[in-house]
Amino acid sequence: MSSSIVLGAQWGDEGKGKIVDLLAEKADVVVRFQGGANAGHTLVVEGRKIVLHQIPSGILHKPCTNLIGPGCVIDPTALLEEIADLRKAGIEVTPEKLKISDRAHIVTPFHRFLDRRQGGAIGTTGRGIGPCYGDKIARTGIRMDSVLHGTVKVTYENYLSLVMTDTTFGDQTDAFNRENSAFLASLDSVIPFIGDTQTMLFAAYKQGARILLEGAQGTLLDIDHGTYPFVTSSNTSIGGALTGTGVYLPMETRIGVAKAYTTRVGNGPFPTEWSEEFADQIRVVGREFGATTGRPRRCGRLDIPLLQNACMVNGFTSLALTKLDCLSGQTTIEVAVGRDSSGNPTYKTLDGWQEDITSAKDFDELPAACRAYVEFIEKELATPISIVSVGPNRSQTLFRGEAKGVVS
Ligand code: IMP
Repeated sequence: MSSSIVLGAQWGDEGKGKIVDLLAEKADVVVRFQGGANAGHTLVVEGRKIVLHQIPSGILHKPCTNLIGPGCVIDPTALLEEIADLRKAGIEVTPEKLKISDRAHIVTPFHRFLDRRQGGAIGTTGRGIGPCYGDKIARTGIRMDSVLHGTVKVTYENYLSLVMTDTTFGDQTDAFNRENSAFLASLDSVIPFIGDTQTMLFAAYKQGARILLEGAQGTLLDIDHGTYPFVTSSNTSIGGALTGTGVYLPMETRIGVAKAYTTRVGNGPFPTEWSEEFADQIRVVGREFGATTGRPRRCGRLDIPLLQNACMVNGFTSLALTKLDCLSGQTTIEVAVGRDSSGNPTYKTLDGWQEDITSAKDFDELPAACRAYVEFIEKELATPISIVSVGPNRSQTLFRGEAKGVVS
């Protein structure tokens, strides 16, 4: 019996997909507990790129059960597309392997429409996430159980009659009607996947299952602990795992995933952002374009104070540092280590390294300056860095200390 959690320590896109996938191999159950189709977990499996949005990464492993918890918001149309894409890639997706909580809220075309119209200032993904969580909190949302009970269409019609006015859509009425028809047509196909994930998860835990909780987005996008209002609408940090599953799990292993530098998509503060010219270089090397929207990500230096905060919020037992290979070729590397009296970052300059590290097989094979970079971060955060990623493939992962026991 064990439970582990993987969470983003920055603004999302830290490379959680790869880390979760490695751990999922050893898990009996993988659970998503917040967010929805705004997430994009990119995995490279046997050279093939797979992007998961709403479905837990355990779907790639045959014996694994995958649960989408009550804290998630699910877009049925997008979910069916994701299932179809996985099946096309030869991955089995059955109601035995995948269950969605009957208490998860449904993202409707109306939520997507509102998000596209109102989400510009925040730079949202346009997937309807904020408006859907807004309805949940306002107690006007529509849950998956209404699909099971056959009441969803009437509930949705009533909902629309409340929220829509003659002027709501302007010239977009036809587009909305098309999205609506697709939405209503998709609902019956989702029925076999809906169930009581809370009871299933608790039963699995009691029976000694190895459970992996898969976070989406990152700590700085948490609705309560992030850079509000430039955040997503769910609790992306550890508290979200308790409310979003409805089961107390001890989560003995709590892995925070951080990039060796920092990125963010969407608007909002980014104290250590690089100049556009330098960011352009890293963006190309690091393939820094959103997995969900394709937007170029903003890039900047590693920010130790923000990571210290993420360690405090989540109680990470260890960290996974990803994309270290993307920093090769720099003479020096700046890392933010504090803030001055005006709140601006203060930097420490570390030595860079020139070598390509993508084929390193062991941490000790890395150039001395590269190892010193990792060890510096570890010391500043007082948290071991147990996984170092030097490329997108599973094989480009170096394990240190306790991770050798956890993963291998
Ligand atoms: P929303 O989650 O679509 O409402 O977007 C709110 C903010 O969170 C925006 O800045 C998005 O760019 C950001 N965001 C949402 N999901 C992700 C993600 O998976 N990775 C990175 N940023 C995300």
